[in-house]
Amino acid sequence: MRETLGFRFYLIADLPIVIRASVLGDVMVNQANNGSPAPIDDIPEALRETVIGKRSTQQTASRFWSVVGVGALAIVGSSGLAVWRLSPPPSLDAGGNDVQTPAPESLLDGESLNPAANQAEDTSLVDVASTTLLGHRAYDEAPPETLVSITADGSLKLRKAAAEKLTEMLDQARRDGVDLQAVSGFRSIERQNYLFFDIKAERGQSTITRAEVSAPPGYSEHHTGYAVDFIDGSKPKTDLEQTFEETPAFQWLEKNAPHYGFELSFSKNPSQEVSYEPWHWRFVGDQHSLETFYK
Ligand code: DAL
Ligand code: ZN
Repeated sequence: MRETLGFRFYLIADLPIVIRASVLGDVMVNQANNGSPAPIDDIPEALRETVIGKRSTQQTASRFWSVVGVGALAIVGSSGLAVWRLSPPPSLDAGGNDVQTPAPESLLDGESLNPAANQAEDTSLVDVASTTLLGHRAYDEAPPETLVSITADGSLKLRKAAAEKLTEMLDQARRDGVDLQAVSGFRSIERQNYLFFDIKAERGQSTITRAEVSAPPGYSEHHTGYAVDFIDGSKPKTDLEQTFEETPAFQWLEKNAPHYGFELSFSKNPSQEVSYEPWHWRFVGDQHSLETFYK
């Protein structure tokens, strides 16, 4: 204990700040033990006193400034690391060479300074890419309470706003002498699962071929409660065929559907992955339906 007390006294006497003494103590113990960390009581007394006793005031001061220097370097080093972590890392080209680092987000004209806003923007970009499958966009199933039946047996349901406009439209077509009929509206994901996978297997179709005429489950406009498939009651051979475009019903739709908020979903655009479907229309006549399809 005497040595320990002496050692501690030495440190405190040489250094004005006790917390620095403990740092210096660690360094000195390690040096005295050839660099191996060891408890103070394990150091032989002779060695300990030699090391401590031989040290002149100048040596002690020199060691003190060494330790302060090491401490300062450590602080500067960690500050540098903190600054580096706050700054974007330098951009590297394919060969690993530095290229010009883009301006920080906060300096870009018109860019939000709110990191959450920028993050939201990035997330929406990711969503667009990840919510399309085989040319079909992902849609949520309409909640049951948003749907109303437009047939007595409840077999055909749509969202309320779409159902009201569809009823008006069918009535007007009838008054105009056109046998326009709606045959499909809201579809559950479970139903679409059958239409995509079971029919695909039954027909031996490839995935690409099936997706040209049927959306995979979770990706059908019918899930939204805003999409409708039409037929012409007077031309049954054209049901769900592209020849439907030759019927009086289709020609009536082309002219009148926009007045009721309906539009064709899959046009004749040859670059799209989904085939032309003249029978499949969607309601975009209110804010919610518009955002469902165009956002
Ligand atoms: N026939 C359309 C693409 C659907 O399955 O939703
Ligand atoms: Zn359809």
